[in-house]
Amino acid sequence: MKYLVTGGAGFIGSTLIKQLLKKHNNIVINIDKLGYASNLDSLKSVESNPKYYFEKTDICNERNLSKIFKKHEPDRIIHLAAESHVDRSIDAPAVFIQNNIIGTYVLLNQSYKYFQEIKNSKRKKFLFHHVSTDEVYGSLTLDDTPFDENNRYEPSSPYSASKASSDHLVRSWNQTFKLPTIITNCSNNYGPYQFPEKLIPLTIYKAVNLQNIPIYGKGDQIRDWLYVEDHAEALIKVNLKGNDGETYNIGGNCEMTNLDIVEHICFELDKLRPINDKYINKHSDLITFVKDRPGHDYRYAMNIDKIKNKIGWKPKVKFEVGINKTIKWYLKNLNWYENNQNYKGERLGLIK
Ligand code: NAD
Ligand code: DAU
Repeated sequence: MKYLVTGGAGFIGSTLIKQLLKKHNNIVINIDKLGYASNLDSLKSVESNPKYYFEKTDICNERNLSKIFKKHEPDRIIHLAAESHVDRSIDAPAVFIQNNIIGTYVLLNQSYKYFQEIKNSKRKKFLFHHVSTDEVYGSLTLDDTPFDENNRYEPSSPYSASKASSDHLVRSWNQTFKLPTIITNCSNNYGPYQFPEKLIPLTIYKAVNLQNIPIYGKGDQIRDWLYVEDHAEALIKVNLKGNDGETYNIGGNCEMTNLDIVEHICFELDKLRPINDKYINKHSDLITFVKDRPGHDYRYAMNIDKIKNKIGWKPKVKFEVGINKTIKWYLKNLNWYENNQNYKGERLGLIK
């Protein structure tokens, strides 16, 4: 199969591309604008693979997309390109509207043009697979049952609202134009190559640099964590076995509070990299409670019965194993994020 993957230089996209090439022997065209969170170093192990192609472009650029479709004639699309950080969407929502909503619209439009032009045999294979988030469903209380695919959309942040809008656009192209589509909504991912503005890598970087580890509010918010390799595997399985026009939830069955996550990382770091400092005894001494994120969703949790029963996927990597691998990877690759020319860590205070 020839896949066109958008956002392939990001955290999840790069993991997906490596699996598509190495485990499943597909052809992959990666299109990415190379924004602040992308890093082509994440794809070093496949960059000379003859089945891998990279095209630097913004998905909002209609002309470039049209040329790429004509040049590569992909069988299927997996669309991950998006602005992905909730805090940034609160500071500056406009780029989220542009990249996540307008970007998805432009890509859908070009995909549909292409879909109409290709021969029947190729049209039968075609699929627009949109990668989305559990955040579109809003927030749960402790007593609520986890989100299922029929949950109403109640996004709280400009980020989740922009993802919800893009989901609606994808559904409408399916209903109105009969473009074959699938939407997957996934919970919080963690693993190597995640840009260190997100909770888990940020905690590791701050702890290693003996800087304060910021926890929003009381740290009692709950997220459902999934190892990124498991997410990539789920995407490939749904892509091959899912039904046109349907939505599939993906989750880790691993609900933890933010405080539990950060304490766990600190505990592991105490063993892997003991502190030798006059004032700080253990990494958890660095935990600092700071002002809460506005509109902060309290709890996310995914009901994954549909993907388990219809697709035959469930998460494999236990949190203790995944987080240990993740911490060890960051300890070995501390300079990794600095290789992105667009970002030097100023916002995170990581540059000394
Ligand atoms: P990321 O920020 O690490 O990577 C996103 C990539 O998309 C970057 O390489 C960026 O350059 C690219 N991109 C953004 N706008 C673009 C545009 N206009 N044109 C071309 N490229 C563009 O994000 P991620 O964590 O890998 O998330 C990937 C997708 O998965 C996103 O759609 C996100 O909403 C979704 N998702 C993420 C998580 C998570 O926990 N990280 C969970 C569920 C869903
Ligand atoms: O749920 C899926 C979503 O998970 C994805 O759609 C998003 O792209 C991805 O960024 C992630 O969103 P979150 O907002 O849940 O992730 P983040 O790592 O920013 O925060 C996780 C939790 O930790 C959240 O409750 C806020 C909290 N937090 C975060 C940061 C960065 C802190 O307490 N301190 C921090 O410094």
